[in-house]
Amino acid sequence: MHNLGTLSPLETLFETKLGHAIKMPRNLARLYGSLRMPHARSGQHVFSNFVSTLDGVVSLQARGHAGGGDISGFDIQDRMVMGLLRTIADVVIVGTGTLEADPLHVWTPDSICPDLANDYGKLRMALCKPAAPLNVLVSGSGQVDLRLPVFTSGRVRTVVITTSAGAKRLLNRKPPASVIIHPIPRYRHMIPPKAILDAVGRLSAGKQILIEGGPRLLGEFYERGMIDEQFLTLAPQVAGRDYGDDRLSLAMGHAFPPSSTRWGALTDVRRGGSHLFLRYAFRRTVYRSQSRRSQRG
Ligand SMILES: NC(=O)c1ccc[n+]([C@@H]2O[C@H](COP(=O)([O-])OP(=O)(O)OC[C@H]3O[C@@H](n4cnc5c(N)ncnc54)[C@H](OP(=O)(O)O)[C@@H]3O)[C@@H](O)[C@H]2O)c1
Repeated sequence: MHNLGTLSPLETLFETKLGHAIKMPRNLARLYGSLRMPHARSGQHVFSNFVSTLDGVVSLQARGHAGGGDISGFDIQDRMVMGLLRTIADVVIVGTGTLEADPLHVWTPDSICPDLANDYGKLRMALCKPAAPLNVLVSGSGQVDLRLPVFTSGRVRTVVITTSAGAKRLLNRKPPASVIIHPIPRYRHMIPPKAILDAVGRLSAGKQILIEGGPRLLGEFYERGMIDEQFLTLAPQVAGRDYGDDRLSLAMGHAFPPSSTRWGALTDVRRGGSHLFLRYAFRRTVYRSQSRRSQRG
């Protein structure tokens, strides 16, 4: 199903009154409804946004069809929400797998939903944010093509957070002056989320940190209990899986034992046609565990 059509408002089915309501331009408020974010605290607020099939697949891993668009059916309301969350973000973080799946992309609100570029721009201005969020690419290896638009278009400030070896590799390729290569010594490949967030904190004073993937990067953040909120679009399709295929789910690279799977609290549900737009709160390091599940028998 491809829903490229008219942008119509989401129907709010459930919402909480936690946090403060963001004052949105009229058109965005009409389309999304009310958007609340946690009250300003001193620390970073880390939220993630993904789209999944009913059976939990976030990438079909098929040539030319590996991206989130094939999961959402290129749904225009999903794009509207992606653009909105990018609008309130100071920083968008992605891993190299996500860049490889969509190499011409730049992580700005208008590049995902150009129809709303003006409204997103107005909202960023009202929030006193620069035109685009800082784009952060995480790569242990430093094997990144620096000729891609995210580095060369001039539309975003981009930082590559990498290892010492990765930085050496990238600097040898003479990155554009606008790109910051930020090595984090001590780690050979996977960089712990805390080190990524500390580095981001040194590069941006903004506290709203959006993780757009992919699953391996997100898996690291869940493993360390460093996700505050998950926005999840549930697309009405079943992708299936073959035994041993490469289809990915939300959080890859760590299988949490039964006693410490990550439990969230549902805080918001909206409907756009047959798509559901879900939002969960995850308290860092503290998760619901067996007590809740044992009630289900
Ligand atoms: N449905 C959705 O909402 C959605 C969202 C995002 C992505 N996706 C899809 O997911 C697929 C990509 O999955 P993926 O898991 O490969 O994506 P990914 O997490 O973006 O990329 C994995 C790569 O990123 C780097 N990386 C991630 N975490 C790191 C860390 N903590 N430290 C150092 N490097 C780190 C590594 O790069 P190096 O190998 O360079 O070291 C790693 O190989 C794509 O098909 C994409 O379209 C879907």
